[in-house]
This record gives sequence, C-alpha cells and structure tokens, in this order.
Amino acid sequence: MAKVLVVYCSMSGNTKAAAEAIAVGARGAGAKVTLKSGVEAQPKDLTDCDAVALGSYDAFSYMGGGLKDFLDRAYYPTQGQVTDKPYAAFLTHGGGGKAIASIESVAQSFKLKKIADAALIKGKPEGATLTALKALGAKLAGAKK
Ligand SMILES: Cc1cc2nc3c(=O)[nH]c(=O)nc-3n(C[C@H](O)[C@H](O)[C@H](O)COP(=O)(O)O)c2cc1C
Repeated sequence: MAKVLVVYCSMSGNTKAAAEAIAVGARGAGAKVTLKSGVEAQPKDLTDCDAVALGSYDAFSYMGGGLKDFLDRAYYPTQGQVTDKPYAAFLTHGGGGKAIASIESVAQSFKLKKIADAALIKGKPEGATLTALKALGAKLAGAKK
C-alpha cells in the first residue's frame, strides 16, 4: 500500500480543506495517508512516505510559517533520503498566488520530483476544485519513485 504524506499550513481553514480533499483522493486510490500540519509533521514522516503533498496559504507571497517550519526542520535529517520522491504542491491565496514559487523552490532543494502542476486555489476550495484536488491525491497515491 502506498504511503502518502499531506503536510499543510492553514490560518483560517482554506488550505486545510484543500489538504483534506487531497487526503480523501489518496485514500480512495488505496493509499495510507498521513495528514499533518507543518508544525505537527516530523522529518521521519517525509522519509517514510512514498509521495508527499506540500501545501500552504499565500503569506506575503511566501509560504506560511507552519510549512516553512517543517521544511526547515526536515532538511538536514532527510538529506539524501528523499531524492526523486514524488511530490505536488498546493496553495490557497487571496488573488496573488506567488507563494507557490517558494514551495517549489524548496522542494527542488530537497530534490523531490514534481509529478503534477501545482494546485493554485483562490480562497476556499469548492466544487470542481475539490474534485481536482481529490484527483491530485489519487495521482500521488499511484506515483512511484
Ligand atoms: C498574513 C497574511 C498574508 C497574506 N498574504 C497574501 C499574499 O501575499 N497574496 C495572496 O494572494 N493572499 C495573501 N493572503 C491571503 C491568504 O493566502 C488566503 O486568504 C488563503 O486562502 C488563506 O488560507 P487559510 O484559510 O488556509 O489560512 C494573506 C493572508 C494572511 C493571513
């Protein structure tokens, strides 16, 4: 069974809702899912999973502090162990969305392998956006290193 990690940070719930939709999609495709906020997540969660979704709200055109905290704490402990691990990024924003570049840049530093275009969501995910997020979760569930 594939193991999918979904790490997110969310101030007011939009990104959490996106993370939960990705988790539902990955579970529906048969994966074991670990869904954690950036503050809760540990480096071992990243080394243990087969694929990871990294998500945040846009905070002044950068990722939010919770996700940054996780990535900072995870960098050295996972170095060399996550090369080419499949990942996808997701971001909710208020009309900007530039913060996606910060997540993708750090993912590149980890040498993760991007397996899908980033999901950029204005505000709270609803309707077709939720469907697309579930499909992203399913794609992560089927991704192989
Ligand atoms: C401190 C702060 C800074 C923000 N900066 C931006 C920004 O630079 N660009 C943007 O599009 N939205 C910005 N927003 C809006 C949020 O990214 C947006 O409302 C997001 O969907 C909130 O997600 P959440 O409910 O998961 O916290 C900012 C919000 C906060 C709280």
